[in-house]
Amino acid sequence: MKITIIGAGAVGATTADNIARANFAEEVVLLDIKEGVAEGKAQDMMQTAALLGFDTKIKGVTNDYLQTAGSSVAVITSGIPRKPGMTREELIGTNANIVKTVVENLVKHSPEIIILVVSNPMDTMTYLALKTSGLPKNRIIGMGGALDSARFKFQLATKLNASPSDLNALVIGGHGDTTMIPLIQKATWNSLPVTQFLTEEEQTDIVKKTMVGGATLTALIGTSAWYAPGAATAAMVKSIVLNENKLFTASVYLEGEMGEDDINIGVPVIINKKGWDRIVPLELTKEEQASFKASAEAVRHMNAVLKD
Ligand code: 2OP
Repeated sequence: MKITIIGAGAVGATTADNIARANFAEEVVLLDIKEGVAEGKAQDMMQTAALLGFDTKIKGVTNDYLQTAGSSVAVITSGIPRKPGMTREELIGTNANIVKTVVENLVKHSPEIIILVVSNPMDTMTYLALKTSGLPKNRIIGMGGALDSARFKFQLATKLNASPSDLNALVIGGHGDTTMIPLIQKATWNSLPVTQFLTEEEQTDIVKKTMVGGATLTALIGTSAWYAPGAATAAMVKSIVLNENKLFTASVYLEGEMGEDDINIGVPVIINKKGWDRIVPLELTKEEQASFKASAEAVRHMNAVLKD
């Protein structure tokens, strides 16, 4: 089982590190365009194997797609990250060209591949990856909702002084500061509705903080975050490789589901060896439905830029 990660920047390298530590994959190929960077980071990680006790081999390569041949899963993290004050959407011009080339190269060497897209603006890059690859829709997955849902759980856990893993909470819609929809009415604390323990004001505050979760970190760090993005991506890869059937929000291609067509956007799906296997039906309130429609409009607007 070979996993390829394109981009040895902070998110790509952290994803590789998390996959290796979890010890479920035979080989991870880390590819970057900058001479030596992937090789160096791969070696650095391999030197932790004896200390952490994993057998996954991490191989770093400079732009050599031949080394990715026969991969079951690929993660695309390449492109420029956002700087403080930037939206994910502002990255589209540069990242679209990069993602297109990466997808063509990946599919050429691994026709059976499942591709996870992390590059921003993520929903549009996932849509572009699907259209460029010609692969069945189930083999193209956008990573955003899993991360945003983890950030939502962090905000809830902090406010409730609870264990994050005791919380069940989903963020659907686009992976954008204004387009994501944290479903607070449906969130539970070990099956108890969280709304039972939070005032209206606290609920609004948690939702707001979740939506700007990435931007808050970008302002603090000076560039885009990597620990939670890397952990969320690795968890999705694991669900594919081990056929775990885990439920994540992921950006997948809709053909009429949730009232939307010809768009990649975040909905709850089951992730297993087929990629995203099926959409988990959701009953949305009128308000949530309206937010989802507005979110889809915003993503569609961004997708239209690809055609310019
Ligand atoms: C984030 O929200 C990388 O888009 C990603 O941190």
